[in-house]
Amino acid sequence: MEKLRVGVVGCGAIGREHIARITDKFSGAEVVAVSDVFVEGARKIGEPLGACIYNNSADLVYDDDVDAIICTSPGFAHRETILQALEAGKPIFSEKPLTTSAAESKEIVEAEMRGGKRLIQVGFMRRYDRGFRQIKQMLDSGDFGEALYSRSTYWNPQIGHDYDNQMIITDASIHDLDIIHWLLNDEYESARVFQPKRSSHAHKGLNDPQILMLKMKSGRIATVEIFLNCQYGVDINCQIVCEDGVIDLPTPAAPTFRKSGNLSVPLEQNWKRRFTDAYDAEIQDWINSTLKGEVNGPNAWDGYITNVTMEALTAAQLSGEEESIIIDERPDFYK
Ligand code: NAI
Repeated sequence: MEKLRVGVVGCGAIGREHIARITDKFSGAEVVAVSDVFVEGARKIGEPLGACIYNNSADLVYDDDVDAIICTSPGFAHRETILQALEAGKPIFSEKPLTTSAAESKEIVEAEMRGGKRLIQVGFMRRYDRGFRQIKQMLDSGDFGEALYSRSTYWNPQIGHDYDNQMIITDASIHDLDIIHWLLNDEYESARVFQPKRSSHAHKGLNDPQILMLKMKSGRIATVEIFLNCQYGVDINCQIVCEDGVIDLPTPAAPTFRKSGNLSVPLEQNWKRRFTDAYDAEIQDWINSTLKGEVNGPNAWDGYITNVTMEALTAAQLSGEEESIIIDERPDFYK
């Protein structure tokens, strides 16, 4: 196969960005079909590319000219498209979340295993961020001894009024939940959520900030601080405290400057720009590995792990108690 012929389901914000990546930046793939329930949106994006336009995901998935699918519809619609792709035996890149519940994600992994071939990659793009990859290499080298605990922050300048407490877990924390177990090679055991004094910048109905605490099977503890109205910029941090040293996620390279009595490092104001390079690397890797018939990146089992963990965190947010995270044993298929 010379070029991967890609069909994109869901032509909203990130769908359009992935289409632009494939069309303008990469050479190994082309977008040959697009679909959206809002068909005018699909037409606007697809027609200039000469792509087939569909108003539903099944027609796109079963189109013989589509080799592989990118699913960028809202989370609640992922299950349907993924099951169609599995039935058609076609590789699919699904944006996070894999599905919106642990039960649905379990259904997906079981369907993929029945098919006997890994076809699903999930859009946990932080694994492609240079800084996180460097941390992973350092931890895996063994030079720092055992990791003991980790501290992560997801600080963001302002958040829209449609953001609610549940989304702190299901939307804001999901990337941290994927990256932490991947970095530490560990499994989650229980979850607690702490809700400290509320910022006056938080809109009514949102408790911001919140602190998530995850105990891991090895005894490690990981905390994730989510503060979505921190006012000053996108500030993603990750610090791993080990027996023989401490590793910090680097701040993305940007010129420091001296001005008005300050020595400053500029921070992004938009979370998407913070990870532009990671999104590029993720989609390029998906294209390359799909052309080779492989799945390299985060897989459906990783999607299932985050769903189970998010359900425990949501329960902990409501109960104020420690809630168990019960994840089935990873099947050999996903090792
Ligand atoms: P969006 O709302 O901008 O776009 C979604 C599009 O899907 C809309 O055009 C809508 O008409 C269409 N749609 C709705 N139901 C559909 C269906 N059943 N079949 C096909 N299309 C359908 O949303 P956005 O921000 O582009 O997010 C899409 C997905 O990407 C979500 O799952 C979101 O969580 C994920 N996402 C991931 C990010 C990451 O950092 N990896 C960042 C932003 C979004």
